[in-house]
Amino acid sequence: MCGIVGYVGQKQALEVVVAGLRRLEYRGYDSAGVAVIADGHLETRKKAGKLTNLETLLGEDPLPNSTTGIGHTRWATHGGPTDSNAHPHVSEDGRIAVIHNGIIENFAVLREELTAAGVTLTSETDTEVVAHMLARALPAVGDSLQVAMQAVCSQLEGAFTLVVIDPSQPDIVVGARRNSPLVVGVGDGENFLASDVAAFFEHTRNALELGQDQIVTLTAESVTVTDFSGNPVTPRAFTVDWDASAAEKGGFDLFMLKEISEQPKAVADSLRGRTSPQGRIQLDELTLDESVFRDITKVVVVACGTAAHAGMVAKYAIEHWTRLPVDVELASEFRYRDPVVGPDSLVIAISQSGETMDTLMALRHAAAQGARTLAICNTVGSTIPRESDAVLYTYAGPEIAVASTKAFLTQIIAAYLVGLFLAQARGALTEEEIRGILQDLNDMPQKVDLVLDTVEPVRALAQQLSTATSVLFLGRHVGYPVALEGALKLKELAYMHAEGFPAGELKHGPIALIEDGVPVVVVVPSPRGRAVLHDKIISNIQEVRARGAVIIAVAEEGDEVITGFADHVIRVPEVPPLMQPLVSTVPLQVFACEMATVKGHDVDQPRNLAKSVTVE
Ligand code: AGP
Repeated sequence: MCGIVGYVGQKQALEVVVAGLRRLEYRGYDSAGVAVIADGHLETRKKAGKLTNLETLLGEDPLPNSTTGIGHTRWATHGGPTDSNAHPHVSEDGRIAVIHNGIIENFAVLREELTAAGVTLTSETDTEVVAHMLARALPAVGDSLQVAMQAVCSQLEGAFTLVVIDPSQPDIVVGARRNSPLVVGVGDGENFLASDVAAFFEHTRNALELGQDQIVTLTAESVTVTDFSGNPVTPRAFTVDWDASAAEKGGFDLFMLKEISEQPKAVADSLRGRTSPQGRIQLDELTLDESVFRDITKVVVVACGTAAHAGMVAKYAIEHWTRLPVDVELASEFRYRDPVVGPDSLVIAISQSGETMDTLMALRHAAAQGARTLAICNTVGSTIPRESDAVLYTYAGPEIAVASTKAFLTQIIAAYLVGLFLAQARGALTEEEIRGILQDLNDMPQKVDLVLDTVEPVRALAQQLSTATSVLFLGRHVGYPVALEGALKLKELAYMHAEGFPAGELKHGPIALIEDGVPVVVVVPSPRGRAVLHDKIISNIQEVRARGAVIIAVAEEGDEVITGFADHVIRVPEVPPLMQPLVSTVPLQVFACEMATVKGHDVDQPRNLAKSVTVE
């Protein structure tokens, strides 16, 4: 939540910072602001609303040339999305400009102290206190911004990434981080700070991870990192291997449409190089000793939103393949209910961004109980993998649209690979069985491609149903998390009432929601294999149909029975039952995207949301 960019170098800072903010706007778009240092003083511009509003303001009221600057795009927490609450916030003496991501939990006390000392605060934010505190701390520490930052950070509670500039030290940018993300881009005669690498990877592929409670000082030529006590720290370097075009729309109208279309490649990339020539699962990145995978007695998945749905899908597969119990926990609830995890548990944190605060806190809680932790993550250099015992990266490439699509499919792939690795380590599946499942997985990019080739009628259907006020989604077995995911997509993009249910649960209450004309999307299990699930869902369809529901069935090719029970059938290719989520989710993504488009909503940046949720 909130995107942060800092720059010092030879280029026009404003251009670098605004371009970076454009790449980070998915992190929040309630307001945007920039500050640069020019001729020994600060110049700031900020505006409520999306970045484009700030750009208009900058056109009307340009900033002077400068090679040092910071910028911020906000997801509002403390104080509404107004101009005055937009960042940067500037100290009373006009000396310090600060941008912030996170929540300073003790801000009320700090605010009172400042007010009592005669400081006038001009915003409702928690951030503004930092600007005043830094300005007041500077004289006592010989005007060193870095040391003042140490002193101030030591008084702050909560989560914060802070980036500050001071015109009396015009060639440095200082950042600090606790719990919220901040990475360094190391350029040639220029350096960058940002919430994630998307902001600078067109300038440099060389990056540094910052750890917890660290302060970084950038000049054009140097990067210095210390802890909050001033002790030097050597940050871990990493290389960004994203393709530059990956963060562009590339001819698509929407990032979401582009990302939906990238799913076959994302799935293929996430499978590549993870099998030995002999057909064994080979996850070299899983630095945990294989004995850990043999000795654990349970698996717990912690995740939020779409990532939690991926975990729910994986539960079916991992339990089936390993006979280990798998719990899937919404990360935001996990640590507050005294969960039973310990050294015999493998806790898997699934997160596209690697920065989701709820997931991070759940992970830390699990680690504190002695659990072995494993991250499934899409973002190299992010906090969740860094704090896990092991990591398995997904290779979805940058996901810019707020609604998660390709990350979901690749999270399922990665979790399945972990499941197979567990089964292999424990001898729960034979080598031949594992080879067979791997073959099924390797077939999936082509199957997802087939879905994309035939998905056009889903758009027409969305247009036809766009006046509905409520849409229900039903599924059984792995179709249940797919139903939840379909409903989540529709809620977040089309702002419609949408709910997913296990189809068998409907009669225990939710069926009361059915009235004439309510669209019910049903993720139909394959009639092959466990035909009982197919039979049961037909009965569930009958139950809602009898009460006036309009049935939209997502069913596999060749399932002719379904045509007699559905008003509309969306076809997906025949795949083994555990692979079904990888094909049946795709039309639901398209359905939600089209529904939102018809309603005129901003699909890539839906209201009230941010892609990376770095507050609890
Ligand atoms: C889904 O479309 C959402 N954007 C959201 O539910 C997301 O999956 C969730 O916030 C978790 O994010 P993460 O994968 O980055 O941890």
